[in-house]
Amino acid sequence: MRDKKKISLPAKLINGGIAGLVGVTCVFPIDLAKTRLQNQQGQAVYTGMRDCLVKTIRSEGFFGVYRGAAVNLTLVTPEKAIKLAANDFFRQLLSQDGKELSLVREMLAGCGAGTCQVVVTSPMEMLKIQLQDAGRLAAHQQKALGQDRLSAVAASHSPPGLHHRQPYVSESATAYQRPSATAIARDLLRTQGLAGLYKGLGATLLRDVPFSVIYFPLFANINKLGQENLEEKASFLHSFVSGCVAGSVAAVAVTPLDVLKTRIQTLKKGLGEDTYNGIIDCARKVWIHEGPIAFMKGATCRALVIAPLFGIAQGVYFIGIGEYVMDFFK
Ligand SMILES: *[C@@H]1O[C@H](CO)[C@@H](O)[C@H](O)[C@H]1NC(C)=O
Repeated sequence: MRDKKKISLPAKLINGGIAGLVGVTCVFPIDLAKTRLQNQQGQAVYTGMRDCLVKTIRSEGFFGVYRGAAVNLTLVTPEKAIKLAANDFFRQLLSQDGKELSLVREMLAGCGAGTCQVVVTSPMEMLKIQLQDAGRLAAHQQKALGQDRLSAVAASHSPPGLHHRQPYVSESATAYQRPSATAIARDLLRTQGLAGLYKGLGATLLRDVPFSVIYFPLFANINKLGQENLEEKASFLHSFVSGCVAGSVAAVAVTPLDVLKTRIQTLKKGLGEDTYNGIIDCARKVWIHEGPIAFMKGATCRALVIAPLFGIAQGVYFIGIGEYVMDFFK
């Protein structure tokens, strides 16, 4: 084992919570741009990440790029706690009398952690995506209306769910409807039950399990390169860089699955945009209507979100802020 010292669960929770809060604050706007870019079909409102951020701030104000951040800020601690604890748990379960884990076992541990994490992340992503995409939808409707008012109205359709919230068409992109996370959650639970809140669970699993399978062993092995011997920890800088590198490689690798997940979880579509019936249908339509390149939409944003998120997490974990806090209260 790399770490001789066992870290208590409360300390881990504090580490995960702090890392999450700092991480969300730093990278949420890029995450928002990612969602909006991935949801663009045909007629594009944004040309890229920068353009999306600039336009969003212009029409929705500075905090417009933080729409949906409250979901992450609230749930990030339970999420991190589950993921980190589960990974350590499975690693310990799979380790044989103090020997190092084999690559296959590391992967299995990553798989287990990814599966546990999804219980929290799937509904979280569901709510976050509706909030993040609302502004794009408004801008898209406005653009479509401006170009062809009549045919746009005729083509208007309302996707299933959220029945009383019709696609909102406004003269002004700043005046669009702003739903709240709790209102969306309540609507979904009432109209579709738990299944509504867990829409896209399959796609989330399909994304997060491979992510963990790539990330955790990659991190452990890059991190090992910075260890003088098995007894010592790698330097902070080395762990930080290991987290960033492993995170961005894993993030870019699973981008196609992330695109499918975003599309499936987005309840309201713009005028003339495809709706989907499950993962296969979504993959087929994206391939046919938008081409294979569409599966890499938001890849840069995703790397720019995940790398700092994981770098920060590993950094906080490594410094051991949680352990200091726990010691302080002893
Ligand atoms: C918000 O939470 C979701 C679910 O865990 C995660 O995939 C996403 O990267 C988070 N975004 C930010 C900016 O922290």
